[in-house]
Amino acid sequence: MFITFEGGEGSGKSTQLTLLHESLEKAGVSCMKTREPGGSDGAERIRRLLVEGRADAWNAEAETLLFYAARLDHVNRLVKPALAAGKTVLCDRFADSTLVYQGIGKGLSEEYIRSLHHLTLGNFAPDLTIILDIDPAIGLKRALERRGGETRFEALGLEFHQRIRAGFLSIAQAEPGRCVVANAAGKIEKIHEHIVDAIHTRLGLMIC
Ligand SMILES: Nc1ncnc2c1ncn2[C@@H]1O[C@H](COP(=O)(O)OP(=O)(O)O)[C@@H](O)[C@H]1O
Ligand SMILES: [Mg+2]
Repeated sequence: MFITFEGGEGSGKSTQLTLLHESLEKAGVSCMKTREPGGSDGAERIRRLLVEGRADAWNAEAETLLFYAARLDHVNRLVKPALAAGKTVLCDRFADSTLVYQGIGKGLSEEYIRSLHHLTLGNFAPDLTIILDIDPAIGLKRALERRGGETRFEALGLEFHQRIRAGFLSIAQAEPGRCVVANAAGKIEKIHEHIVDAIHTRLGLMIC
């Protein structure tokens, strides 16, 4: 199974992914944690170009091509081999983030992004996507408190992040079979329970 976590800055993707990883391991499910941009060595090098520095360092098209160079390396070198070895792969952000940030957020056409995906990865897609939904005012505050130098996207302002939130919700609405929306404003443990339930009902994986 390939399971992705999506949502805005500070929505709790990394927190929930780690909790799910622990629960799956405890239940004896062989699984692996990874993230985008990054995951593989080459893609982690591209990550630094994308998440650090000035917000306007790249235009939307150049940025998207860098994301897909990283994604191609990550999927081919890490994700597909792990899936072929029978592992469940948990990935922090994936293609929906490109559709939302570079598409809805920065105005690149959906058609351009979807053709690039098709060109590089064919119809490779997650089995399940958990979308963590939160008011960006709260998410950005959480992300800011976390600190660190990866602030290129956090710096884009509240209006941008409100469009990002709406973008993820519209993907969830268009693809209800693949996507589950979790209210990310609640307690960490409650959100985890919701995700465990979704894994059980959607994928038939028994965890506890
Ligand atoms: N449900 C929650 N309630 C309060 N704080 C949270 C919650 N989920 C995560 N956090 C905290 O918010 C910050 C951002 O969470 P993180 O998992 O890093 O978000 P993301 O990976 O989506 O950017 C972290 O400091 C984390 O401990
Ligand atoms: Mg994170």
